[in-house]
Amino acid sequence: MKVTPLTGKFGADITDTDVSRPLRENELTELREAFAEYSVLAIREQNLTIDSFEAFALQLGNFGETPFITPVDGHPNVLRLLREADEAGPLFGSGWHSDWSFQDQPPSATLLYGVDIPPAGGDTAFTQQEQAYDALSEGMKELLEPLHGVHSARRSYGPSGTFGQRDDRRSMEIIGDESALETRSHPLIRTHPETGRKSLFINEVYTIGITELHHAEASAILSFLFEHCRRIDFTCRVRWQQGTLTMWDNRCVQHYAIDDYFGHRREMMRATLAGETPQ
Ligand code: SIN
Repeated sequence: MKVTPLTGKFGADITDTDVSRPLRENELTELREAFAEYSVLAIREQNLTIDSFEAFALQLGNFGETPFITPVDGHPNVLRLLREADEAGPLFGSGWHSDWSFQDQPPSATLLYGVDIPPAGGDTAFTQQEQAYDALSEGMKELLEPLHGVHSARRSYGPSGTFGQRDDRRSMEIIGDESALETRSHPLIRTHPETGRKSLFINEVYTIGITELHHAEASAILSFLFEHCRRIDFTCRVRWQQGTLTMWDNRCVQHYAIDDYFGHRREMMRATLAGETPQ
């Protein structure tokens, strides 16, 4: 397995491996170590079926829970992210977020496999939240340390959210409901359970407030943090090819599906791995 960094800080291409077969223990260890170091791995030139995609995921952990989106028939843990060439309307994932951060135990990682990739465009961008945390002043770190972000799916999947109403023109079956209005609090600063590194755990899609602050105070601090988190210095970008399998660590990165490929079809398989309560 060859590891080639994508930037000076995080993200790596992985080549010279085949994850369609069961990996040996030493290969899994190597992959886990690369994941802990780089947070985003783009494993190139794979040839996966839905079964081998699931089998690979299960070597890394258990599946997470997937709300609001109808999974592939017979595969309750796999989503088909499909955008037809002539499809308009909001693009799934096109806003900075960490997957399902509104859950009690948001997924540790997401696996996304490129089935049909536009000739150009449709990249996924990532921003590393440990770097975002490290770059804050000591004063700001102290202010944020005891605070909790309020996370909710309401802006996306609530009745008046982006995907709140059924739309038969959409290729993906996304069904929002009232449960999206629920909220969960998670520490604004979380510590990665495996690496011990601290990161900012907020995102502009799902973080709607700060438990300990008034609305106006929280809005001001969150807008600063959202802007800070997407500083170009903290980002990397995965350029997809058919057969690329990208995995990212939701505990320390946010991601963004770039909406720039109208006129071309894009189809991906996606699964999440179960995570833990953020601490
Ligand atoms: C997602 O947010 O999981 C989708 C990312 C993508 O389609 O690039």
